[in-house]
Amino acid sequence: MSKDQKTYTRFEVAQRIEHIVLIVTFTTLAVTGLVQKFAQSSISISIIAALGGIEMTRIIHRAASVVFLVQAIYHLVAIGYKLYVERKQASMLPGFKDLQDAFQHFLYNLGLRNERPKMDRYNFVEKAEYWAMVWGLVLMALTGFMMWNPIATARLLPGQAIPAAKVAHGAEAILAVLAIFIWHFYHVHLKTFNKSMFTGKLSRHEMEEEHALELEKIEKGLIPPPPPPEVLQRRKRIYYPVAAVLSLILLFFVYRFVTFEETAITTVSPVSARAEDVFVPQTPTPLPTRPPTPTPFPTQEGQILDGPLSWNSGIGQIINQRCGSCHGAMGGLALNSYEAAMRGGRSGAAIVAGDVEASPLVTLVRDGKHPGKFEPQELDLIVRWIQEGAPE
Ligand code: HEC
Repeated sequence: MSKDQKTYTRFEVAQRIEHIVLIVTFTTLAVTGLVQKFAQSSISISIIAALGGIEMTRIIHRAASVVFLVQAIYHLVAIGYKLYVERKQASMLPGFKDLQDAFQHFLYNLGLRNERPKMDRYNFVEKAEYWAMVWGLVLMALTGFMMWNPIATARLLPGQAIPAAKVAHGAEAILAVLAIFIWHFYHVHLKTFNKSMFTGKLSRHEMEEEHALELEKIEKGLIPPPPPPEVLQRRKRIYYPVAAVLSLILLFFVYRFVTFEETAITTVSPVSARAEDVFVPQTPTPLPTRPPTPTPFPTQEGQILDGPLSWNSGIGQIINQRCGSCHGAMGGLALNSYEAAMRGGRSGAAIVAGDVEASPLVTLVRDGKHPGKFEPQELDLIVRWIQEGAPE
């Protein structure tokens, strides 16, 4: 075999299977999560229908999250095995060299360097992706737990933490999906079509491009050989029981994650679990029997209702209170003083003394489309005030 055709083992079968499980769980989580985040869009509606309704979508999302967590536990065990039993280097840990490599690579991309930096088994791009994934997992698990167990969360944290968790969960989801589609796909499918995660192997050429330092170590025989079988055997005898106990503890946490409290999934009766029902509270909040009393306006013990109406006897205050936030002194129509109000705005007078129908102050606001509104009683007073000649 010529030197060029030589291949280098990059991923063992177990790692490749792990990656396939990751693809499946990640995609499931992304699809079932994003359709819940963008539940109103027509694509989401068809996907949710295809999955068997919102209830089923939620169950699938949660099931996938459990698989994801179990996989994370397996991953920890596998790392422990490499570090403790095989005494391999912690090749995924970031270091100062990664910063240097990133900078050198940047210069190389700009054409300011002739060669790429020589990178080790995991280069800075791979490390960044890996640790972004770890961080994402921690954040998604924490915020997912908060939404899954809102009652427990509210015991420890203020209630706002739950909608905040939802926002963080959704934002991180978009970040993660974009990172996979743009960043990961670019690096492994577009820049080069790197099949090593499926074939397990890299060609010599690929090694030179992305892992030149590792290649050098392999060729110079600097990679330490695996420990002799009897040593492996001895370490395994220690490692397996420890790993088993730790995994059981972690699996217990996952079990508690799922069963911590009864939430919507179990409390919505399956009979009524049609898509539209999930969003509707089971018992609608009773409507208030009496309309809320409007904010009192300055009536000076009710005199304003009978006495002569004027800007200064309260009309000015009503207008200021309802409209002042937008119609202050800044450009356009100002309603903060009698003079300004009578001067009007861009399209002329806002108040025409004696003519209600010619006064946009009333006509514009009356039909409810304007952002500012008056209470009915306030409007009556203003109408009367204008009819009476809108005195100051
Ligand atoms: C949330 C902001 C907001 C509030 C509150 C608000 N307005 Fe306005 N209003 C506007 C904007 C924006 C315009 C268009 C810009 C302009 O002309 O100043 C406007 C325009 C008007 C105009 C037409 C002015 C012109 O000459 O073009 C009238 C009349 C008016 N508002 C009356 C009122 C009254 C009366 C209230 C209180 C009940 C009120 N607005 C409360 C934002 C507001």
